[in-house]
Formats: sequence, C-alpha cells, structure tokens
Amino acid sequence: MTTFPIEKIRADFPILKQKIRNKPLVYLDNAATCQKPQVVIDSISHLYMHEYANVHRGVHTLSMKATDRYEGAREKVKDFINASSTKEIIFVRGATEAINLIASTFAKANINKGDEILITAMEHHSNIVPWQMFCEQTGAVLKVAPINLQGELIYEQFEKLISDKTKLVSVVHMSNALGTINPVKKIIAAAKAKNIPVLLDGAQAIPHMSVDVQQLDCDFYVFSGHKLYAPAGIGVLYGKQALLEAMPPYQGGGDMIRKVTFEETEYNTLPYKFEAGTPSIADVVGLGAAIDYLVEIGMDNIAAYEAELLDYATEKASKIEGLRIIGEAKEKGAILSFVLDKIHPHDIGTMLDSLGIAIRAGHHCAMPVMDFFEVPATARASFAMYNTKEEIDVLMSGIEQLIEVFG
Ligand code: ALA
Repeated sequence: MTTFPIEKIRADFPILKQKIRNKPLVYLDNAATCQKPQVVIDSISHLYMHEYANVHRGVHTLSMKATDRYEGAREKVKDFINASSTKEIIFVRGATEAINLIASTFAKANINKGDEILITAMEHHSNIVPWQMFCEQTGAVLKVAPINLQGELIYEQFEKLISDKTKLVSVVHMSNALGTINPVKKIIAAAKAKNIPVLLDGAQAIPHMSVDVQQLDCDFYVFSGHKLYAPAGIGVLYGKQALLEAMPPYQGGGDMIRKVTFEETEYNTLPYKFEAGTPSIADVVGLGAAIDYLVEIGMDNIAAYEAELLDYATEKASKIEGLRIIGEAKEKGAILSFVLDKIHPHDIGTMLDSLGIAIRAGHHCAMPVMDFFEVPATARASFAMYNTKEEIDVLMSGIEQLIEVFG
C-alpha cells in the first residue's frame, strides 16, 4: 500500500468511530452517499454560529461575511474542476436538478421534434427520466447506446448512433451501478466532430478522480455534493459560459433578476441567472470545506488508493464460489456490485447489517442496468478513501458466512 494517510483520514470522520449492532461500523455504501469529515461539519456550524445571514442582499456585516463564504466556495469549485470562470458554476440541489435544469432550458431552446438525444444503457434514472419527459413533451427522440456483458459501453455502436439529428449527448462519467468509467474523451471528441454538445453526469466520478472540464472539453458537467464528502441538497452544474449565456433561465424569483416591472423582467448575469431564491448557503459553504479537504489529500492520491482497494476486493470476491460480479469493465471505479446464488440482494444487505456492514441492495436507480443483466437487484459495496483492506476482509468473511448459512 502507498503512504496514503489512512489513519488520519479515518480519524477525521466522526461517524466511523461508532458501532452498529455491537460491531465496528464498516461503511461501504459510499456510492449512495458518503460520510462527512469534521471540517465540513465544523464549517457549517461555524457559519450558523458566527457568520450567517442571507447572501447578495444585505449591506450589513453578517450578510457580507456570508456572501464572502458563499462566493468563496464557488471559487473553490471552479478551481477544483478547472472551469475558466465562476460564471460557469451554478449551484443547484444536486446532479438530478442540474440535468433537469438543462432539460428545461438548454434542451427547450435547442432541441425540437424529431431531434435526438443520445444516452447510454448504463445511465442512472436521473439521466434517463428527464429526457423521456422532455421527449414526451416535444416529440424529440431518445436514443440509447448499448453496453456489453462486462458493463462497458459498446463504443462502435455509440458512434453509429451519432447522426445529424443528434442535438445532445448525455453520458454518465462513472456508472453508480457498475463502476464503469466511460471513455469520455473519445465520446466528447466524436460528438465535437459533429458540433454536438456533451453533458457528463459526474455524480459518481467526482469523488474518485480529478476532473478537469477544460481538458475534457465537455459542455456541461454535473455533480452532487453529498457523494463528495459535502452536505446533501447541494450540487453543481458546470456549463460553458457561452452556452449558459444563451440559455433561458430555469426558475423565476429573487436573485436571478436585475430589474423587475409588471411589464417585463431583466435577468441577472451569470451565474445568478440560474440561482433563483435564497440558496442553500450553509451547504455551499460545506461543499467548499469538503473541496479544501480533498485538495489537501490530492485527488490523484485518492484515485490510486481506491484502485488498490478495488483490486483487492475484486480479487477476494472472485474467489468466492456462487458470487457473480456485475460490472467487470477494464476501466472501473471503486464499486463492487454482485449477486449470490440463492440469496436475494435485499437479504444480503440485511444480513450484512447484522454484522455492522453497510452496503446498498437494490436497483441503484438504474433499473435498465438490472434488466440488462437479468437480475432484480444487486448487492453493492462502494468504497471511499476512508475504507481499508481490513474492512474488505470483514465484508468478504460476512459474505462467506451468509453463503454457509443460507446458500
Ligand atoms: N444514486 C445513488 C446510488 O447510487 C443514490 O445509490
């Protein structure tokens, strides 16, 4: 193992110290949501105790302090994903809201009846349903690029589906159900060759790797705070400035306006045009604190450490008779989805909980993936930077016990 400061990192997460059902907590449900370090918790309580007021609205000291914190966090997000301007960083509730925002604004203005939106067969519901709703309303057509039995995008088929009718490519960066990391650079290059904008759903990728939106050259990148060690209820829509400028606003209300009369309204400049109403101020501040924390550890160090965890878990799991891994892509993030002969995933989840192990069992908001693999659900262990090989050993021995008793 590298010199990754695992002990220090674990000590930074108070929730990890507790016992569940009298056993040390082994938290392996990080793809659903991950735990929060003390610095994030402290940043929120500090704001509420000392610096809280509404942002952008007051000339008083507290409002200015809160605004500085809020806009400071926007600056941190900008640097974290290497956007070229804070105007390109829109705070939303999460990746789901970000995709819905794009469907309600960019798509509404640019995609018409008969036009096509291209996604993949491994998308989360949040990158399927908004487009189905949009297509139903407008007569646009949703195209789905297939995956293979390893859970990888069949790239040749994807490329063949790009046509003159394609007006948006919207693809998951890393699958939450399978762990697959898509060849996004290739995807973007193919779309760009035909001047088609690309949206990347980065909800699952962002905690596991460094993301550089300028290097990727994607048009939109969306993610949620809660999978990035930050609070739930906050997320980010990155969009290229020119696209955002041209898009109509999303919701109407305070802060997104410059001037309102009963006759007409002049909208605010970016990024505020898309941030109607009082935002989730403390959650944005928490997101900024999470980013500071991650930058200090280093995203490349996190990626290397988690790759070791995944390799270790995959090797151990492959040796368990009756266990089938769902999602065996060559390029894969720290997710191990699996099924066991004769034991339903929900029973696996419940029985592992009795050993203090938290995993997710279900369809992972990716029902078409379950249909493709012909399983009702999977059990999914998803790793974060605070997990250890010892915890993976506990998981594997738990699975072996289940098989012995119920298999
Ligand atoms: N999308 C989340 C998951 O993968 C909730 O579990």
